[in-house]
Amino acid sequence: NFVPVILAGGSGTRFWPRSRKATAKQILALDGERTMIQQTVDRLALTTERKNIWVITNSVLAEKIGAQLPDVPVGHILCEPAARNTAPACGLAAFLMERDEPDTVIGIFPSDHVVKDAGRFAAALRAGIAVAAAGDNIVVMGVPPTRPETGYGYIEQGDVAMPAPGLLLPVRHVHRFTEKPDKPTAIEFVATGRYSWNSGIFLWTARTLANALREHVPQVAVKLTEIAQSYGTPEFEEVFARLYPECENISIDYAVLEPRSGKGEQSSGIYCIPAEFGWNDLGSWAALHEHQRSIAAPGCDQHGNVVDGQGVIALNSKGNYVYAKERTVALVGVNDLVVVETEDALLVTTREHSQDVGKVVKALQELG
Ligand code: GDD
Ligand code: MG
Repeated sequence: NFVPVILAGGSGTRFWPRSRKATAKQILALDGERTMIQQTVDRLALTTERKNIWVITNSVLAEKIGAQLPDVPVGHILCEPAARNTAPACGLAAFLMERDEPDTVIGIFPSDHVVKDAGRFAAALRAGIAVAAAGDNIVVMGVPPTRPETGYGYIEQGDVAMPAPGLLLPVRHVHRFTEKPDKPTAIEFVATGRYSWNSGIFLWTARTLANALREHVPQVAVKLTEIAQSYGTPEFEEVFARLYPECENISIDYAVLEPRSGKGEQSSGIYCIPAEFGWNDLGSWAALHEHQRSIAAPGCDQHGNVVDGQGVIALNSKGNYVYAKERTVALVGVNDLVVVETEDALLVTTREHSQDVGKVVKALQELG
C-alpha cells in the first residue's frame, strides 16, 4: 500500500511578481500549461491512482489546489492551522496513517519541482517503494550535483546496499546527511564526487516515520499523536487548531535525516536511490530559463531567449527570460535579463541576480 503525500505549504518569494501569498509557486504554471502541483500529481499518477494522493497545505491555497486537482478527494487536502515546516507536516501524515495501516509506505513529495523524464521518475519511485516496504528503512532520492549549491541537503554515499531493478545504478547506504552546508563545505562535498543533492523526496512506512519522530522530536510526536487520535471525531478541528501550532518549527531534514545519519551507515537504515530523472527545483527565474532551454520549450529562440507570452519583441538581444501576458514588451540590444510583467508589477533584473528577487518581497513588506 503506497500513499503519496504532497507538501504544498511553502510560499516561494523568488518568483515575484508572479508568486504571491495567494499564488505560491506550486500553483503557478511556470513551465508549460500545467501548474507545478498538477505536474507533481501527473507524475505520481504513473504509479498510483490520483484518488490515493494526499496534499498538506494551508487555508490560503487549499481552495485553488482543490480546483486544480479535481481527482484528488477533497478530504485528502489537509489545511495546517499554521505553517510549522516539513517535520510536523510529514509527521501529520505518518501519525494519521499509522493508526489504521502502519505498514503503508508514505512518499513525501515537494510540490514545486520539475522532472524531465517521468518514466525514469516512476522507475526510481518503484525501486524506492520496495526498499521502504522491506523494513524499518528510510529512503531518500539523491540527485547528482552540478554546482556547490548551499540551499540543498547533501547525501554522502556509502557502500552499495542492493541492486535497484529497473535502474542503472544501485541503491546505496547513506553515510552522512548534511542539510544546507556553508559554501566552502558545499565546494568540498561536490569536489569529492561522493555526494548527491537531496531531492526532498522521502519514502518510509508510516510506522518508521512516526517512530523516527518519537525518537528525534518527541514533543512534536506527542502533539501529533493526540491530533491523530481525534481524527474522524467532532473534536478534530479544535484539537488540530490548538495543538498543531505548538509543534516545533523544524524541517524533516534537520529533525530526522541529519541526526539519524550520525548513527553510522548500517544502523541508521537510510538508503539512497539514484534520482536520474532530470530533477530541477526551479529556485529562481534563472533556473526556469535554464530548464526551459534544456527541454527546448516553446518560446525558446536560437539566441537563448525564452519568452512566455505573446507580443514580445527581441531585437539584437540574447539570453533573456521574458514573461509578458498583459502588455507588449520589447527588448533592444540587451542580454541576460529577466523581465516579468504582470497586471500590477514589473520586474527587471539580470539572470545572475534573480536569486535576490525574494528581497523585493521583504522590502515591499517593510513598505507596508
Ligand atoms: N504543508 C507544508 N507546510 N508544506 C511545507 C511547509 C509547511 O510548513 N514548509 C515547506 N513546505 C513544502 C514546500 O512547499 C516544498 O514543496 C517542500 O515542502 C520543501 O520545502 P522548502 O521550504 O522548499 O525546503 P528547502 O528547499 O529549503 O529544502 C528542502 O528541499 C531541498 C530540495 O529542493 C530540503 O529537503 C533539502 O534537503 C533539499 O535539498
Ligand atoms: Mg525548496
